[in-house]
Amino acid sequence: MLAIEADALRRTYTSRTGWPRSRRTETEAVRGVTFEVAPGELFGLLGPNGAGKTTTIKMLNTLLLPTSGTARVFGHDVARDPVAVRRRIGYVFGGDRGLYDRLSALDNLRYFAELYGVPARDQKRRIAELLDLVGLTGRERERVEGYSRGMRQRLHIARGLLHRPDVLFLDEPSIGVDPVAARDLRRTVADLAAAGTTVLLTTHYMAEADELCDRIAVIAGGRIRALGTPESLKSRVGDRDVLDIEAYGAGEEALDRVRRVPGVRGVSTEDRGAVQTVSVQTDRGAELHAPVLAALDGVRIGRVVSREPSLEDAYIAIVEEATASTEAPAPTEPPSSTEPPSSTEPSSSTEPDGVPA
Ligand SMILES: Nc1ncnc2c1ncn2[C@@H]1O[C@H](COP(=O)(O)OP(=O)(O)O)[C@@H](O)[C@H]1O
Ligand SMILES: [Mg+2]
Repeated sequence: MLAIEADALRRTYTSRTGWPRSRRTETEAVRGVTFEVAPGELFGLLGPNGAGKTTTIKMLNTLLLPTSGTARVFGHDVARDPVAVRRRIGYVFGGDRGLYDRLSALDNLRYFAELYGVPARDQKRRIAELLDLVGLTGRERERVEGYSRGMRQRLHIARGLLHRPDVLFLDEPSIGVDPVAARDLRRTVADLAAAGTTVLLTTHYMAEADELCDRIAVIAGGRIRALGTPESLKSRVGDRDVLDIEAYGAGEEALDRVRRVPGVRGVSTEDRGAVQTVSVQTDRGAELHAPVLAALDGVRIGRVVSREPSLEDAYIAIVEEATASTEAPAPTEPPSSTEPPSSTEPSSSTEPDGVPA
């Protein structure tokens, strides 16, 4: 039996805006999403902000009803049998809420174990196991208010696992977590999947998806644009080379000149302080060094490196094709985060408070 089946899921939000005469506005957040996840699989939903990842997860974990379409978790329909679904799932949202700051980690877990109906005789052992899994053994008597973002996130995962769910939903688990903690977090998630839990993870960090996921669905504008193993997604840009050019202040005009160079397939930029990395995807073997640099005439250039395409390049190509081919709103977040998450990353305003159902 499949762990998760999503079949033509759609969700439209209706909201009222404007004053004094309010207007109804409809947002088609998810526009027909279909995928399956096998038991024990670590499946990633990868996409820019506003792509519909959180909305998809909330339909699967019974927090939101689909506008149309169906979904099942281990055979239980999310709309018709939400109680059975909830028994099989746990979920963790990125962000800060959902834990009691004034309590220790241990007391938080005791409290939620009680709330989730973990039998009293199992609680102690289960909590010890989970503290160990998430690497918080030895710190469990400290108050959560003194915890770092990464430690909190790992405690959230422990909380989400108390009732031994078969499926864990992790929505942007590493948002706002420092790079070292994010690496620990990835290890925790990998261990979990190795132990047999099915994990559905959303992220907009490419490296995280590449390292962790068995399969990835790239979602943009409420639709799945590509689905496959990280390797198969990368092979979509296997006929390309990438030039990474360190630049200082290359504006849109200069980038457009690069886009028009024959043989150039895509251009993206990532800013890091004063330095930009301009990544230029070209046809394989096209040797476009000279014409590309000529197109950047007037821009100060640093190092230029030629490399093989990465998952991020595949992702950029997929999202660019998707937004070019539909009238779907363009993703607002530049899809260029190979960087580990930084602590300045704002958390999404649509994030729920993570308090368990
Ligand atoms: N409660 C809501 N009311 C209205 N629009 C919403 C609501 N939640 C999300 N949206 C909109 O739906 C779209 C998808 O959002 P979301 O599922 O949160 O995307 P993601 O998690 O990929 O960033 C966005 O355009 C977002 O603004
Ligand atoms: Mg989200």
